[in-house]
Order: sequence, then structure tokens, then C-alpha cells
Amino acid sequence: MQLIQSLPKAELHLHIEGTLEPELMFALAQRNGVTLPYPSVEALRAAYDFDDLQSFLDLYYQGADVLRTEQDFYDLTWAYLQRCVEDNVVHVEIFFDPQTHTDRGIAFDTVVSGIHRALADGQQQLGISGYLILCFLRHLSEESAFATLAEAMAYRDKIIGIGLDSSELGHPPSKFERVFAEARSAGFKVVAHAGEEGPPEYIWEALDKLKVARIDHGVRCQEDMALVDELEQRQVPLTVCPLSNLKLKVVDDLAEHNLRWLLERGLLVTINADDPAYFGGYLGDNYRACAEALALTDEQLRQLAANGFKASFLPESEKARWLTVVATTERLKMTR
Ligand code: ADE
Ligand code: ZN
Repeated sequence: MQLIQSLPKAELHLHIEGTLEPELMFALAQRNGVTLPYPSVEALRAAYDFDDLQSFLDLYYQGADVLRTEQDFYDLTWAYLQRCVEDNVVHVEIFFDPQTHTDRGIAFDTVVSGIHRALADGQQQLGISGYLILCFLRHLSEESAFATLAEAMAYRDKIIGIGLDSSELGHPPSKFERVFAEARSAGFKVVAHAGEEGPPEYIWEALDKLKVARIDHGVRCQEDMALVDELEQRQVPLTVCPLSNLKLKVVDDLAEHNLRWLLERGLLVTINADDPAYFGGYLGDNYRACAEALALTDEQLRQLAANGFKASFLPESEKARWLTVVATTERLKMTR
């Protein structure tokens, strides 16, 4: 597994609220005078046994309630960036869900300022570059998404893109066609979760109606070979999250995951952690679990790391610099 550790990596599908480890959740609850409905860190962790996306989201939104101050959002983001150092993650594009916070009275500025200040320190002190992507919660209305976009307009220097997350089934991308058009014309990059639990049709809608630059998850594209061909020909990146898919029962067994199949079909597939505090693994863990379960070769691991940079929103010069490093990273020792 030495190659996985040595390769510089980018993470493009990471919900910052999903990095809230139980220990930090308890510490923030105490700091803010919040009572959690669990007696201990162990009891909370034991509750992380999900049947599907919604059963996870219910706990995830509940956990986010401990985040109240700018310092809380800073501490959350800083803890994640320190974890990135351990895994040799050098570039991150982080999702955040402002409506989860503004709907309970936390100011938009509190959320963005805390996360952004940690990203700036991460660049300065850790050498990790970081961009911020605002996600609309798709279970909420188009009107609420428009109001959130209006708040984001004053933060265009701090927010690179707009995404779409939360409960997928019953909330197709088309529901947000107009607000995504406005986001694009304001200069935001756009991405969307599609084809995690939702059907291939949702991936088509994300491409054709939202005009996304990347598909988050996208693993159900395999059910529509015309869609697989389209994704391959256009080289639309898929930000795949293997351990998330396992925990949320999108797949029953990691050995059955289609990541390797998609990679071998020539799609621009990347590996990501999604919500690592809830799914039992950060980016390095996701790489190692896939390497083992899918018998990935060293060249495939190198390709996956390269794809992370290719699919990123980094300037072309930065992409080229990291791609050279990936191509020349030595395979140390005899093990991967
Ligand atoms: N929010 C956080 N993680 C998510 C996921 N995997 N799918 C949809 N919404 C999410
Ligand atoms: Zn996600």
C-alpha cells in the first residue's frame, strides 16, 4: 500500500459536515451547551448502521446541530485538513450545506467564514489547496435554493461552485434547472449528486439540464450503456465514493463495486470519501479498500490519483504540475 500513501491525491467529493467525528461532536456539544441524544461517543458510533441514504441523512443533519459558531466551522475544517496531511491529500474541493445551518438560525457568513479561514490556513501552513462548493439541499424547494444562491453572490471570491445533495429519490435535477442556470451565469462551476440511489435518468438530467462539469457518484450509469458511452466520450468526471456506497447499501460488497469496470471502460473516475466520519474511512482508506477488494493494479491506482487532479477545478498549470508528480511517484518497497 506504499504507492497509495506516496501518491499525491485530490479529494473532490467531501461534505465538510460529514467529517464531524463523534469526539468533536461531543466536544462542540459541551462547548455550546447542546445535549446530544446519545450517552457517549461509543453509543453514537454504534448508531452509524445505515439502511440507505435517508437513514444516514437523518443522523447527519442531527449531528450538524452542534455547529454554531465561526470557530466551530473552523475547527471542523481544520481537523479534516490535518487528516489530509496523513493521507498525502494535497488538494481538496469541499462541499458545505448552508441551508442545514441557516434554517436553524446560523448566519451564512458564520459558516463560510469559518470554513474559509481554515482553508486559508491549510494553504499557508499545510500546503493544501482548497476550494469551497455550496450544495443546495434537493429535498428543499427551488425557492429556498434561489434564496441561498442570492446569499452566495457576495461570496463569489470564496465559493468556486454550486452542487446539489441530500435525498435523491423524488427530487430530480430538473427541479433545480432554473437556479443552476442562474448559478452558471454568475460564474459558478456546477456539479450535482446523481445516480447514487437515483436512476440513470437523473444523470442525464444533471448533464443536459443542469449542465454540470462533474457527476457526484454516478455509479448507476451502468444501467444505461448509452449513458456510459456519453460519459466516456465527453470525459465527464464521476466522483465515486466506494466506502460510502458500501455503508449506504448502494452495493452489498465492495468486490461488486463497478469502480474498476468504469475505469476500464475509459471513464474519468475518481475516488473520494464523501462523509468519512460516518462511513468509516478517509481518502486513503477508500483507496486501500478498493485496491484490495477490486485487485487494482499499480497503474490503475496511479490513474485514479491522476484523474483526481484532471477532474479538479485547479488551473491548468497546477493540474499539469501534479500530473507530473503522480506520473513520477516511485513505488517504494515491494508492497503497494
Ligand atoms: N449529503 C452528504 N452526503 C451525501 C450523499 N452521499 N448523498 C447525498 N447527500 C449527501
Ligand atoms: Zn456526497
